[in-house]
Amino acid sequence: MSVELRGLPGGALPPFTPGAHIDLHLPIGIRSYSLTNAPTERHRYVVAVGLPANSRGGSAYVHGDLKAGAEIEISAPRNLFPLVDGDGPVALIAGGIGITPIRCMFNALREAGREVTLLYSARSRQNAAFADELAQQPGVRFHFDDEAGGPPDLEQLMAHAPQETHFYCCGPSPMLSAYEQTGARLSIAAERVHLERFSPAEDAPAVSQAGDGVFTVELAQSGMSVDVVPGQSVLDALLDAGADAPYSCREGICGACETTVLEGTPDHRDSVLSDSERAQGKTMMICVSRCAGQRLVLDL
Ligand code: FES
Repeated sequence: MSVELRGLPGGALPPFTPGAHIDLHLPIGIRSYSLTNAPTERHRYVVAVGLPANSRGGSAYVHGDLKAGAEIEISAPRNLFPLVDGDGPVALIAGGIGITPIRCMFNALREAGREVTLLYSARSRQNAAFADELAQQPGVRFHFDDEAGGPPDLEQLMAHAPQETHFYCCGPSPMLSAYEQTGARLSIAAERVHLERFSPAEDAPAVSQAGDGVFTVELAQSGMSVDVVPGQSVLDALLDAGADAPYSCREGICGACETTVLEGTPDHRDSVLSDSERAQGKTMMICVSRCAGQRLVLDL
């Protein structure tokens, strides 16, 4: 289902770039959806929402309860999946509803005259949103698991792409794991292997672990100090204490709660930061990550 959102009272909306997403503040909670329309359209945001059997409530609400004309609060666009500037070739890989940001990226790249290919994989033709539209475009290849008898061969695709291709993949966790592993196996530079998740990484550390202890979080701007106990996130501890902190997914995948760390060592448990960002320890996702010591000072 595509959902078109327009501002009240109308007029231009904040700009976005291909790969961006917005949060919908639904009665059942905040959910993030990628923008799938063209960034040149300033009068509307369009998101596309699938209805998986295991919906955590967001998709079911949008499909069943959200009516045309309803007013809902949304966030400004954020982009954790931006296209890298340049004029080299691009290979886009979409799995299922992962097509939503990829469709926007594909159209923008085509419009800019860039060399771009798209592999669009879905469980079946019936599960492939925008398939008819994309089938008209050059450079688009489909893969349907039920017809092919299994997932697409990412090694074949990535190994035979032109030199210096930048790869972008959005899809379910198993596909993203296979994609990352294939990139590593082929020694493709990490800077050319981009991805966006809709669910935590398969190898992400458990959010709650047996050895978790109590630690203190100090907020440099407000001077507030809060203890975080096992089983409680930094975000929840701060919100419970009346502090203001940004958040969206609460699962360590959207980046909304990324917070600058001024002192202390984070124990990262998110699916957003790269290995080098983790090692630097300058920021953390406070919805899932904890403290490797007894004290953190955050720029809040
Ligand atoms: S709220 Fe989404 S990463 Fe923390």
